[in-house]
Amino acid sequence: MGTLFKNGTIITASDMFRADLLVEGEIVTLIGRDLDPTGHTVVDCAGKYLMPGGIDVHTHLDLSFGGTYSNDDFNTGHKAAAFGGTTTHIDFVIQPPGGSLHDGLIEWRKKATLAQIDYGFHLAVRELNDAVLDEIPTLIDEGVTSLKLFMAYKNVFQVDDSTLFRTMRVAAKHGMIVMVHAENGDVEAALTPALLAEGKTEPKWHASSRPPEIEGEATNRAVVMAGMTGCALYVVHMTCEPAIAALRRGRALGYPVMGETCCQYFFLTVDEHLAAPGFEGAKYVCSPPIRSKHDQEVLWGAVKDGTLAVVSTDHCDFWYEGGVGPTAEWAAAHPNGDWHAFEAQDPTYRRPGKELGRGNFAKIPNGMPGLEDRMMVVWHAGVNGSRISPQRFVELHCTNPAKVFGMYPKKGTLAVGSDADIVVWDPNKEHTISAKTHHMHCDYNVYEGMTVRGVPVQVYQRGIRLVDGDQWLGKNGAGQFVRRSPGAPIL
Ligand code: URP
Ligand code: ZN
Ligand code: ZN
Repeated sequence: MGTLFKNGTIITASDMFRADLLVEGEIVTLIGRDLDPTGHTVVDCAGKYLMPGGIDVHTHLDLSFGGTYSNDDFNTGHKAAAFGGTTTHIDFVIQPPGGSLHDGLIEWRKKATLAQIDYGFHLAVRELNDAVLDEIPTLIDEGVTSLKLFMAYKNVFQVDDSTLFRTMRVAAKHGMIVMVHAENGDVEAALTPALLAEGKTEPKWHASSRPPEIEGEATNRAVVMAGMTGCALYVVHMTCEPAIAALRRGRALGYPVMGETCCQYFFLTVDEHLAAPGFEGAKYVCSPPIRSKHDQEVLWGAVKDGTLAVVSTDHCDFWYEGGVGPTAEWAAAHPNGDWHAFEAQDPTYRRPGKELGRGNFAKIPNGMPGLEDRMMVVWHAGVNGSRISPQRFVELHCTNPAKVFGMYPKKGTLAVGSDADIVVWDPNKEHTISAKTHHMHCDYNVYEGMTVRGVPVQVYQRGIRLVDGDQWLGKNGAGQFVRRSPGAPIL
């Protein structure tokens, strides 16, 4: 006995067609017209679309960053993701200072014991030595085939060019993909103190400390190194014209380079959001910064013409009003990590958040929520707004992420033999986004008040229903680690 999704319209990266879809066990076993319902549980999908579960390849759950930890973990973040139609994500494991890559994996595997949806790991290299270089190919045996290097966040995550270049050489040899956060961190580190010294301390100055030129320059540097090493490169969270131009140049030269943007960069601007009165702009502080309306059009152009392959979130949420509960003395006496234990004892406690940067934009934790909103907001502006087709939407949010990161066709499509990760999408249902109703563990939503048309009404992972309307049916520990393959295609 299986589950038969009847009378729906299936959307894949290439097609959109009326068909029934049968799930037996964890996989899709049959797609066809007028399938016999005898012996199956029937889900009536008349008037609905069936899409593959969304894949968000850029998340930071429970990340120690900016003097605190990001809020959502593998429990709350997974539930929020599924309510938004995302059933798989890849999180960034960070190599601990002085530690190995495997030390980082051990730490992240502990976080993932709470998993409610499927997940994978990228590995962020912070310190490269001979032992780490030797360790890189061994990650493939662990199902990890992507590395990440930060060209920004000096004295925190930033690596030098030699580290990036040598990592790319090893990755290329083993068919692994290198991802970069492309901003020139040295220039940022020179601009920030100069701005602060001029009394420019409000959130909006964050954008001036990280102008488009430093993103374009770093993107170009990474693209050139990819060309020299033959390493597959994926530039994360691209935001602006100079960066897109650098990517286009590399692609035109035949270099193995790809890029993603994140949903917030289509919607938020410095003028309207980062420069909001008072400290409100802190909600929108992320790196690279949100940009201008012009850059938004450049990004839409790049997803339309295939320059950008993926839309993800860079979900990394912090309280707007955090640090609620213990005294400053308590917080000072309890270094990072103890906060988790404290929160477990006292649910009213909030770890520090954006308020850390009142009076100094450089101390505002970088990042924002989005994991739950991604598919709804991009469908609304992209598909309803006639910018992209439903098929291209599926390609950007499901299929390409699976292909680029070695999970296809297990994930990312609806085909016979694929995991039955299925979103039943109601294209006519409206929803007004709000922090009052979202499932992310965050006291604000960057799309607050936006009414979208087109929402997930049921969400399935490997044939198990996780979401039914407002009802949550998932379970901790049910999410599985997705082992990924090297040698993914360049799209
Ligand atoms: O502001 C951001 N993007 N925070 C998360 C870390 C990163 O750079 O991706
Ligand atoms: Zn980044
Ligand atoms: Zn990120």
